[in-house]
Amino acid sequence: MTCTESAYAKLNLALDILGRRPDGYHDMRMVMQSIDLADRVTISSQAEPGVSVNTDLPYLPRGEGNIAAKAAARFFEETGLPFPGLAIDIQKQIPVCAGMAGGSSDGAAVLRVLRRACAPEMALERLEEIGALVGSDVPYCVRGGTVLAEGRGERLSELPPLPPCWLVVCKPSCSVSTPELFAQVRVKKLRCHPDVTGMTAALEQGDLEGIARRLYNVFEDVLPRRYIQVFEMKSALLEHGAMAASMTGSGPAVFGIFRDEEPAAQAAEALQAQCASVFFCRPAQPQL
Ligand code: C5P
Repeated sequence: MTCTESAYAKLNLALDILGRRPDGYHDMRMVMQSIDLADRVTISSQAEPGVSVNTDLPYLPRGEGNIAAKAAARFFEETGLPFPGLAIDIQKQIPVCAGMAGGSSDGAAVLRVLRRACAPEMALERLEEIGALVGSDVPYCVRGGTVLAEGRGERLSELPPLPPCWLVVCKPSCSVSTPELFAQVRVKKLRCHPDVTGMTAALEQGDLEGIARRLYNVFEDVLPRRYIQVFEMKSALLEHGAMAASMTGSGPAVFGIFRDEEPAAQAAEALQAQCASVFFCRPAQPQL
């Protein structure tokens, strides 16, 4: 068996934190969107038992430490199917530690392939449950598209697709630790919360302006000032004509929404002078 799957990056159109849970995680309310920036994940059976992972980024874990390997191990543990030897090859396009769910998306791509190959009768919801055992963003990444994610990130409600638009994503060179940023959050002290209900209504009406007006990520409120590049890139996106701009996930990647291709392409080109990693993207809907 050899199968190749696209693992799409995600952006948070809205990210809200509702409270800290007894298990140490946080209850979230997020509007997630897949974009056409994707890693290529190839899975082949191999004679040796266990999972080996190869990636084109030498510093990523190659063995069981890689989230793609963890996803494969969980799949066989949960289904009770015999665990064949697997070789996973990941060609990275999604920037690492950017808030774009690159690792979670690779894990989710592995789960989709294994379901197709070994358990086609399994309900998508069951695959998402297995994903939740691998990481908080994995259930969403299994399904992709435009989704409201709640709870730890495992309660998913499909939303109408984001209207056609262009997205310019800038990944500053700094990196942010997700657990450290969560630790900064005092929910009662957050100054603003995104209007998630208003955003879902705007999605239902296909109102791009209404969606753009409501882009908001509460992590920006607690991001230490040393991550000044995040705020600089947001301002730069707005100066170059974005309808709105926001950080995604726990950052540091930021993105801007554009209605038309030409101004978005020009902004992406101009922003390369300020930021080494700039991506020109469209919304995407993965094939299940
Ligand atoms: O689930 P995952 O391993 O992706 O989460 C990484 C870290 O992010 C967790 O250890 C936790 O500190 C934080 N987190 C959280 N609440 C969530 C998701 C993640 O506190 N809903």
